[in-house]
Amino acid sequence: MGKVLDVKGLTTTFTIGKKDYEVIHNLSFHIDKNETLCIVGESGCGKSVTTLCLMDLLPENGQVTGGEMVLDGKNLGLMTAKERRLSRGSKMGMIFQEPMTALNPLLTVGFQIIENIRQHDRKISKSEAKRLAVEALRKVDIPEPESRMKQYPFQLSGGLRQRVMIAMTLAAKPILLIADEPTTALDVTIQKQVLKLMNTLKSEMDAGILFITHDLGVVGEIADRVVVLYSGDKVEEAKTEEIFRRPLHPYTQGLFKAYPQIDAEDFELKPIEGSIPLLTEPVSGCRFHPRCPYATEKCARLQPKQVEPYEGHFVACFKVEEEFGL
Ligand SMILES: Nc1ncnc2c1ncn2[C@@H]1O[C@H](COP(=O)(O)OP(=O)(O)O)[C@@H](O)[C@H]1O
Ligand SMILES: [Mg+2]
Repeated sequence: MGKVLDVKGLTTTFTIGKKDYEVIHNLSFHIDKNETLCIVGESGCGKSVTTLCLMDLLPENGQVTGGEMVLDGKNLGLMTAKERRLSRGSKMGMIFQEPMTALNPLLTVGFQIIENIRQHDRKISKSEAKRLAVEALRKVDIPEPESRMKQYPFQLSGGLRQRVMIAMTLAAKPILLIADEPTTALDVTIQKQVLKLMNTLKSEMDAGILFITHDLGVVGEIADRVVVLYSGDKVEEAKTEEIFRRPLHPYTQGLFKAYPQIDAEDFELKPIEGSIPLLTEPVSGCRFHPRCPYATEKCARLQPKQVEPYEGHFVACFKVEEEFGL
């Protein structure tokens, strides 16, 4: 099983006014072939910024200031702008939360998929591209794909639009599919269908999937492995089953307590108290310490390093270090 993506020590900085603020701190993770990695965390913790770094789509005031991102053995940071652009369309595909931002409202669905296919392979004839486009729509379970080809994005429901975007992305046969909260805007039934579709596609297309979400229910349905991000720090990482069975970081435990479990009869929803630190007011020590029920003086002063209490289960927390004698 080869690594599709290897991110090592990624650090990202935004300039606001004349000052620089680090938003992603020394973040490392990898994705294997045929694996779905979920990055989970509250709004503002750096999930989208991480995807923008990979896609080379950071806004002008944002910059990768450390680390490296290796896609299929190639260091993205060493590529020319042109090579990055090419890899963005063909090796990495991105599915956004709101598909309308990626689809052109003035062009038919068919035209856009065909153009997308031909952009990545100029040698493909128009008729062959059309055949591939229909096939792509069929793959994502769009009924009557031939007639859908002639429609405009606004004529489709939200769920169908998301499928069209997935089809368009897949037509380029990427090795890494990045999905940033792609189901958040959809209602629950459609959301389930899209997740099921992504699970099917993962096994068929031989790619890795980076799936971004703030929803633990979605994580449970789709992830093989989970990275928990807090204020730009990786606080925990483990296989999905493992993290659901025994979340170790107080923040992850807080996320689970805040997550509504419909089956539990006497379940009481307990949101994590406090809020994530402001970008302009960085926190010393463990970034979670002001909200942590177990925080000590040490937590306010020093930053915990990542330890591995169980095989493949990583966590950055002094309390865990102590408990496990690490
Ligand atoms: N263009 C920008 N300029 C300054 N700060 C930004 C910009 N875009 C994002 N940020 C900051 O980066 C942090 C991470 O944002 P983001 O990745 O969008 O969070 P998430 O996707 O997890 O909700 C936030 O503190 C946000 O305010
Ligand atoms: Mg986001």
